[in-house]
Amino acid sequence: PAAADVVVVSNRLPVDHSDDPAEPWRRSPGGLVAALEPVMRSTEGAWVGWPGTADLEVAPFDFDGMRLVPVTLTAEEIELYYEGFSNDTIWPLYHDVISPPGYHREWWDAYVRVNRRFAEAAAAVAAEGATVWVHDYQLQLVPRMLRELRADLVIGYFHHIPFPAYGLYSQLPWRRQVLDGLLGADVIGFQRVADAGNFARAVRRQFSYETRAGAITVPTADGGRRIAIAKAYPISIDVSLYDELARRPDIQARAREIREGLGDRKILLGVDRLDYTKGIRHRLKAYGELLAEGRLNVEDVTLVQVASPSRERVGAYMQLRDEIEQAVGRINGETDTVDYSAVRYLHHSYPREEMVALYLAADVMLVTALRDGMNLVAKEYVASRVGVDGVLVLSEFAGAADELTQAIKVNPHDIDGLKDAILAAVELSPKDQTRRMRALRRRVREHDVADWSERFMLDLEYLRGQRA
Ligand code: G6P
Repeated sequence: PAAADVVVVSNRLPVDHSDDPAEPWRRSPGGLVAALEPVMRSTEGAWVGWPGTADLEVAPFDFDGMRLVPVTLTAEEIELYYEGFSNDTIWPLYHDVISPPGYHREWWDAYVRVNRRFAEAAAAVAAEGATVWVHDYQLQLVPRMLRELRADLVIGYFHHIPFPAYGLYSQLPWRRQVLDGLLGADVIGFQRVADAGNFARAVRRQFSYETRAGAITVPTADGGRRIAIAKAYPISIDVSLYDELARRPDIQARAREIREGLGDRKILLGVDRLDYTKGIRHRLKAYGELLAEGRLNVEDVTLVQVASPSRERVGAYMQLRDEIEQAVGRINGETDTVDYSAVRYLHHSYPREEMVALYLAADVMLVTALRDGMNLVAKEYVASRVGVDGVLVLSEFAGAADELTQAIKVNPHDIDGLKDAILAAVELSPKDQTRRMRALRRRVREHDVADWSERFMLDLEYLRGQRA
């Protein structure tokens, strides 16, 4: 196969493996595929990633116009590198220690080993002078490893989750190695200006490199210096895709059916991976109290909570699931009537069409994350509200809050504030809904995912020019 001019590297491939021999690969629902497909199609592209199943050894193959290069992970590597270091060390640490991170040397050793395999796989498919774009916290060491393997490459890294303040980051026993890994990239992208600032501060504290206005001066192996760009590139969604889906008659009919099925009450909606960063418990607490106090009535409102299964073998996720299901059971037990239920809890994931129908059906969208890199659900809701009404309640701790300033902002830790915000959202006049939603929609339309990848790629090309 021809060597690739653009190589994307992410923990997961954009497809999931299934046991159906007629259709062994299915496109995975993640947003990253949509974001990067245009980049991949316009060039000779390849995507390096894990196919999502243990011990699966598959040769590179073509899928939907993309070349996919699977990296095999053993069951042990999944436990130590993915569930352990990625999702039980880095994930909680980078989300402000909402859950205590575990620091285990054998997890770190596996992380180093697996990162090296991803770097080697990328180095093997990249053409001379190719652009390699590495994604997310599972692969923070790949940029440095790749630079050492292939000095000719132009390397980008995008960090999809928050980067914490130095006071927290400094807990990490391998804090220097991780920063050094990231600094192997030419462009290091973050969601928020605050994340890029935290990163620059950590680099100054650990290495005392000069950092100025998004440019970091990094020493090179030959005693010279190079510039790395480290700044914010807030990610977005494919806005026109959601707009089209929301205008489809069958999906609008499905939205009406959902509303009727729920008794034509006001619908509050939560859509999250079942994750302790999402503030699902805080949301349930606020909503439960409003019902118990009679400020909301189960005959007038209902909460639909989609909590899609995620990382189910990690202890903190198992515990959270129990807590959420107990809270839902308690609220429903105390407030349901024979005809009406307070919470419709769905521990499933759904196809995009069904999600858009839910967005169309929902009067109020509740995004109450305690910490979130961006939160694309907030943007998906806005992009789906083609009738220009509906209310978004949005945590100030989600990256989306920087852009979606016309949402009703909340601090999810403040339960009384959250209750007031939910009530205000339920009672917002149609005129105020339209005013806010128009502004939100304009904002989301102006900055869709194609702009995001273009901005990032443009900076990479700028540095390529500087190098020449
Ligand atoms: C977040 C991360 C992604 C990750 C996704 C799903 O959005 O930023 O890197 O792929 O969650 O999590 P999972 O562990 O199932 O890949």
